[in-house]
Amino acid sequence: SKELKFKNEKVLKYLPESPERKELEAELINLKNSLVDIPVIINGKEIRTGNKGQCILPHNKNKVIGEYHKAGKKEVEMAIEAALKAKANWESLHWESRVAIFMKAAELASGKWRAKLNAATMLCQGKTYKQAEIDSACELIDFMRYNASCLHQIYSEQPISSDGIWNRTEYRPLEGFIFAVSPFNFTAIGSNLVGAPVIAGNTALWKPAAVAVYSAYLVFKLFQEAGIPDGVINFIPGNSQDIGDLILTNENLSGIHFTGSTKVFQDMWRSVGTNIDKYKTFPRLVGETGGKNFVIGHASANIEALSRGLLEGAFEYQGQKCSAASRAYIASSIWTEVKENLLEKVRNVKIGDVEDFNNFMGAVIDKKAFESITSYIEFVKNSDEAEIIIGGKYDDSIGYFIEPTIVVTNNPHLRTMEEEIFGPVLTIYVYKDEDFADTLRLCDSTSKYGLTGSIFAVDRYAIAQAENELVNAAGNFYINDRPTGAVVGQQPFGGARLSGTNDKAGSKINLMRWMSIRAIKEKL
Ligand code: SER
Repeated sequence: SKELKFKNEKVLKYLPESPERKELEAELINLKNSLVDIPVIINGKEIRTGNKGQCILPHNKNKVIGEYHKAGKKEVEMAIEAALKAKANWESLHWESRVAIFMKAAELASGKWRAKLNAATMLCQGKTYKQAEIDSACELIDFMRYNASCLHQIYSEQPISSDGIWNRTEYRPLEGFIFAVSPFNFTAIGSNLVGAPVIAGNTALWKPAAVAVYSAYLVFKLFQEAGIPDGVINFIPGNSQDIGDLILTNENLSGIHFTGSTKVFQDMWRSVGTNIDKYKTFPRLVGETGGKNFVIGHASANIEALSRGLLEGAFEYQGQKCSAASRAYIASSIWTEVKENLLEKVRNVKIGDVEDFNNFMGAVIDKKAFESITSYIEFVKNSDEAEIIIGGKYDDSIGYFIEPTIVVTNNPHLRTMEEEIFGPVLTIYVYKDEDFADTLRLCDSTSKYGLTGSIFAVDRYAIAQAENELVNAAGNFYINDRPTGAVVGQQPFGGARLSGTNDKAGSKINLMRWMSIRAIKEKL
């Protein structure tokens, strides 16, 4: 059989003096010493609009390493036309040829593009080498290869035929173009937001987040080198306010693939609703949005595992993963021990320049994020119902640095227990052991989101109880592990409730949203 066997990309270690370390260090220097000029790319043509934005380093805010041209209305019109024009050839290409491009892109990302993609993700998105490696190398490569293997499975699934009748199904792309809107926090997510619809035979417009344009541009160039034909992906960085309307009101819009805030996704959904009479089809709306991810520490929990889960879940990548832990419920009988262990771990956290391979945390993404996160810290400082037990300091004189901050509250409905902060702030509520069942209900009802969550417990009844009570509170539920770091092919990723449409990134479910099935019956 021609079946593609999927295997996850190996995470490289970057030990001092290792070849991958040397290559990455050289690439960091290379990128920092150049100023890249990033065009809009439509139908394979580079367009320089002159209306520019900058690529700056979050940990060194005055350092600019790139400038990108913003697409305006004219470019959007051209991009839509290019996507529609490219569609006919792209969809009629045999699917194995589409898969071949993605397999080739994965191969390039695993080899010669790896250091560059990681360096851009580290510098402009503020990731440590470890966080970049699991994102712009492994997850990105995994998405490409995994989708390729799923496509093979999907297309092989055929209906039954009967005497004198031959039934078959064709998994066609949607009619029109896809609008892919990607976030700043994962380079891999951007590659998949555009990659999943495209591998299924669609053509797309891709608008990356302003602060992640550099890595998105490199992903685009990677696709180009792998052989993606002109017009299949059209790269349109820019401001949503300038170009969003034009796209959302176009009659040929066939789908939106989005990761970002709940509010923006709701706005887009509303706009699609308002324009519903204009479209030729019902646009497919697929989004992964906000979260208020929880960790529950049961009285039977392993203290070390729980403390490590809290540290990594809340503070890796400065708490800016959609999956990051930001509220915790800890049993009172273990609290003293957990607190001691956790504080010790946080005290040892190295925060600073992500180019220094010893640092565990870098800066938050930009000024806006810095101001929003620190406003929560100030809120806690002024609250009678909560105290900061570690951290709470911040400094944006050089870069947007915020200390890993832990808040303890006696009010389980404190703002920082309920609202998404998207930064290194963890709020802990200590519950009485005997109130475990109530605490599960409290956890379930506290947030409108349902992205990720963890339970740490050895007691199997407690685990089962949490699983039963928290059915919709987390699209990704973890037992005795942190709620972050879903791996493609292992933990299909997506949230329930207002965390998104739960169409699981890196799964057949997601790919099928970009397909329109034609069932054919033939009488023999
Ligand atoms: N997929 C990432 C994680 O699980 C979040 O976007 O951490």
